[in-house]
Amino acid sequence: MEQQAFVHPPVSAERRPADETESRRANQADWDRYADEYQATHGAFLGDVGFVWGPEGTTEASLRILGDVRDRDVLEIGSGAGQCSRWVCAQGGRGIGLDLSYRQLQHSRRIDEATGVLVPSVCATATALPFADRSFDVVFSSFGALQFVADGEVLLGEVARVLRHGGRFAFSVTHPTRWMFPDDPGEPGLVASQSYWDRTPYVEVDDATAQVSYVEHHRTIGDWVDLLSSVDMALVRFVEPEWPADHDRVWGGWSRTRGLLTPGTAIFVARLLS
Ligand SMILES: C[S@@+](CC[C@H](N)C(=O)[O-])C[C@H]1O[C@@H](n2cnc3c(N)ncnc32)[C@H](O)[C@@H]1O
Repeated sequence: MEQQAFVHPPVSAERRPADETESRRANQADWDRYADEYQATHGAFLGDVGFVWGPEGTTEASLRILGDVRDRDVLEIGSGAGQCSRWVCAQGGRGIGLDLSYRQLQHSRRIDEATGVLVPSVCATATALPFADRSFDVVFSSFGALQFVADGEVLLGEVARVLRHGGRFAFSVTHPTRWMFPDDPGEPGLVASQSYWDRTPYVEVDDATAQVSYVEHHRTIGDWVDLLSSVDMALVRFVEPEWPADHDRVWGGWSRTRGLLTPGTAIFVARLLS
């Protein structure tokens, strides 16, 4: 892809409440605006038909979190350009992508055409899945919608609804302990400066329009476990990928400096009991 200069509108970061409507409106516009830069910056690392669980580069091929996906119905939420679902399809699974951002899905279509591996995709929010009950064997998300949603219980309810009995739900998010630290890949990012238990969302406000332009929601590890059990899911694995010794790529606040000392990614793996 050709090198492009990306312009970032000036924003101010705050901690303040943001409900689901405000979060979705802001994040949809943000991901539409940011998609070209995201794919130009991270596309090669993700791999067009590749499945990494986070900035550490840990692959699904090495972790086998989803189990054998061959002949399985697999839904990815917050699928972006569909790299992970394309990997699932290449393994013989029936992968489907879902994302809030139309621009991200245009990138998915572009890569479908380039690779010949097609990921059927839908533009929707993870809090209102446009699928019938009991449609999927596996639902997963690699840094997708989970931390962008205010109504976590609605999202979990939707996942439980579309999963078949005994189905698997796996998702990666920023490791909840990172919430305590400034989002800085260098030494300042190693000094705790706010409470792990303060769930007030991280919000960016556009300086020119005073509109909320980005929202992230924090849940503690205990919050995630409670959310899973509230929809009758049992946690079966909790993976904290280690920073590989030979890995020196900076992705936002993720870096070797921090990664060798503190976990940057948490992967929750659950099974639907009912
Ligand atoms: C960090 S990107 C990850 C994309 C992809 N999984 C990857 O690894 O490149 C987060 C994605 O979540 C999507 N997203 C954010 N909020 C969402 C929501 N409420 N429902 C569905 N997708 C959402 C964004 O549009 C974006 O494509």
